[in-house]
Amino acid sequence: MAMIAKQCPEIHVTVVDLNQSRIDQWNSDVLPIYEPGLKEVVEQARGRNLTFSTDVEGGIRSSDMIFISVNTPTKTHGMGAGRAANLEFVEKCARRIAECSVGHKIVVEKSTLPVRTAEAVKRILKSAQNGATFDVLSNPEFLAEGTAIADLLAPDRVLIGGESASAIERLAQVYERWIPREKILTTNLWSSELSKLTANAFLAQRVSSINAISALCEATGADVDEVAKAIGTDSRIGPKFLKASVGFGGSCFQKDILNLVYLCEHFGLADVARYWEQVVVMNDYQKKRFSTNIVRTLFHTVSDKQIAIWGFAFKKDTNDTRESAAIYVCRDLLEEGARLVIYDPRVSEKQIRNDLLHVFKDQSLEVSARHRQLIEKNVTVVSDAYQASNQAHAIAVMTEWDEFKQLDMHRVHQNMQQPAFLFDGRNILPAEKLASIGFEVHGIGRSSTPPS
Ligand code: UDX
Repeated sequence: MAMIAKQCPEIHVTVVDLNQSRIDQWNSDVLPIYEPGLKEVVEQARGRNLTFSTDVEGGIRSSDMIFISVNTPTKTHGMGAGRAANLEFVEKCARRIAECSVGHKIVVEKSTLPVRTAEAVKRILKSAQNGATFDVLSNPEFLAEGTAIADLLAPDRVLIGGESASAIERLAQVYERWIPREKILTTNLWSSELSKLTANAFLAQRVSSINAISALCEATGADVDEVAKAIGTDSRIGPKFLKASVGFGGSCFQKDILNLVYLCEHFGLADVARYWEQVVVMNDYQKKRFSTNIVRTLFHTVSDKQIAIWGFAFKKDTNDTRESAAIYVCRDLLEEGARLVIYDPRVSEKQIRNDLLHVFKDQSLEVSARHRQLIEKNVTVVSDAYQASNQAHAIAVMTEWDEFKQLDMHRVHQNMQQPAFLFDGRNILPAEKLASIGFEVHGIGRSSTPPS
């Protein structure tokens, strides 16, 4: 919405939320999320044609077009728990819009939704008592975190699905101010809703595919980065999204695949469901493989050993930790009795502790006293990478932050327990060079490099 406001000074954009403290943050100098370049975009438009407010009703009344942009997390209980999307917030928005609207409104689904959600939204809107009429469009968002501003400025495509040609045209005209018309694709509602889930499923599938091959590389002496390069030069495959890693994270991939799996099951397509589910199974396997490898390499025990965790965000240039592989690796290491010293350039200590508490929740959403104690006693959060590795038995690189490539690794090595182990979950550090300093290096999808 900030980008629309920035690019279209004559359109007034009002962002409304029930949460007062969130809105206060959006109105302050410290935005609630870290995203490179976002602050500048917000500052350019805020106070001009971009407003953040808790006046939900006023926002609905005064707008011609309303974007539903609430989250749709995986359901944690009830029917479809662990798979289906929780549509409670979308439905509440639709009901509020039906209540407060007068005249004609275009309602745009921006949240990622299961196919045919628009049908429910339309039915709710139809129940409006005050004569308001609506068109419903689907306009999924394809930006990736960390590169959101560049993605929004020059997207590969904008997708608009809907039934009303005039409503589609009005939304297309907004994007057309800065995006070439041929990049604005229009489809029917259901294709648009399904395309978003499919895009994320295909992207995640590529990561799981290369990660599956990484296990085979480690067993055979092949190097996964070389394999990725070799296959990526085939123009039919292409080079992007072939970086083997400790596992994908983020708010979308797992949630959207599970949602797709649930949809397939709902429509009786059990084999299709199993096919896509395997992408998530492979991702869990990859995370587990990484933590198991650390324990095995450290002479089959990490109990009371100090392990430096470099990076906690699910990828670089974001402070988002949702589904970050680091959470699961830390959980496994804590269960094995390790002492973790964690450093991330952008993630707060509070967030890290919350995430670790959350991952230890049992089925009744309780955290046992033992797990609470583990986190209190065995987790330290520090403010730089050197501090994290001081006296450590091993380092685990969890996020590909650029600053990890700039560190003085001689200094890091000197202050570690010997032998010094380094597990590079992102293959970003130069293994041969580190081995010559004295590290034993274990990357993803390649043989380990002993100190030379
Ligand atoms: C993703 C989609 O890319 C975006 O189009 C959609 O709108 C939202 O979901 P995002 O989750 O922000 O975006 O990040 P993305 O860059 O896709 O990375 C997702 C995860 O996959 C990260 O944990 C990343 O580290 C991992 N990844 C990505 C790999 O492990 N290897 C790769 O080659 C690419």
